[in-house]
Amino acid sequence: MAQKKTILDLYKMKEKGEQVAWMTAYDYPFASYAEKAGMDMILVGDSMGMVVYGFQGTVPVTMDMCINACQAVRRGAPNTYIIGDMPFGSYHKSVEDAVGNAVRFLKEADMDAVKLEGGVAVADVIKAISRAGIVVFGHVGLTPQSSAAMGGFRAQGRTADSARAVIQDAIAVYESGARAILLEGIPEEVGAFIHKILPIPVYGIGAGADTDGQVLVVGDALGMFEAFKPKFAKKYADIAGVATQGLAHFVKEVKEGSFPAPEHKYSISGDPAEFTKLFAELEAGLKK
Ligand code: KIV
Repeated sequence: MAQKKTILDLYKMKEKGEQVAWMTAYDYPFASYAEKAGMDMILVGDSMGMVVYGFQGTVPVTMDMCINACQAVRRGAPNTYIIGDMPFGSYHKSVEDAVGNAVRFLKEADMDAVKLEGGVAVADVIKAISRAGIVVFGHVGLTPQSSAAMGGFRAQGRTADSARAVIQDAIAVYESGARAILLEGIPEEVGAFIHKILPIPVYGIGAGADTDGQVLVVGDALGMFEAFKPKFAKKYADIAGVATQGLAHFVKEVKEGSFPAPEHKYSISGDPAEFTKLFAELEAGLKK
């Protein structure tokens, strides 16, 4: 089994030009599949709001939902570097509250790092969490927690003015002490520029290929989430199709009486005549 990575391994991989593959997971089974598949990292993303809970976005996700999911993911992937995503509202009230919530990810769920969205606006929060000794991953570009302010889940950095704002955010994240950054939903040219100027690992989701690695949302990658398909997502499996087919097969077999079959049944041990006698006695007792 591969040794669990540390932040230093991520830096070494960057130095060697080795791409990092990571994926979201929100529960024990998919965390264990990710670890078995050789995933370098797992993100317990607040995308759980859409993929697991069926909300329209990530805003309703709470700290408790995230901590519960992180605990399950850690049990499923004990040897993988895992990042806990800080949900909307968990780092916006005050710096003290943000540090307290970041601490919960490490103390209660054994996370290796936390991720939070935003750049210039959250620089003080990134500084304070980093000063507490916690590894922070920044996240700029398309930031789903502020989709209402962006007018929806829209790519960012497509005009020069918008690109300038994304780049300023990325620089602020780095200068505040974040040890890595995720770029979401921006043109490849802008991603490549940020990758060129920042010395920390720069990862992408919908940010082109010129980064230190790629992450996808497991619901998109494995075909489990059908409500919305981002342009940048690639489907590597059809879990929804396989699951629906399996469930429909079960319904059919129950209704036609072919399940359970003999191999799914327990047998009695001892003399069958004793059971016949027992059932007869009990039935007679019920009739009295
Ligand atoms: O919550 C999430 O899944 C994310 C993705 C952009 C990777 O942050």
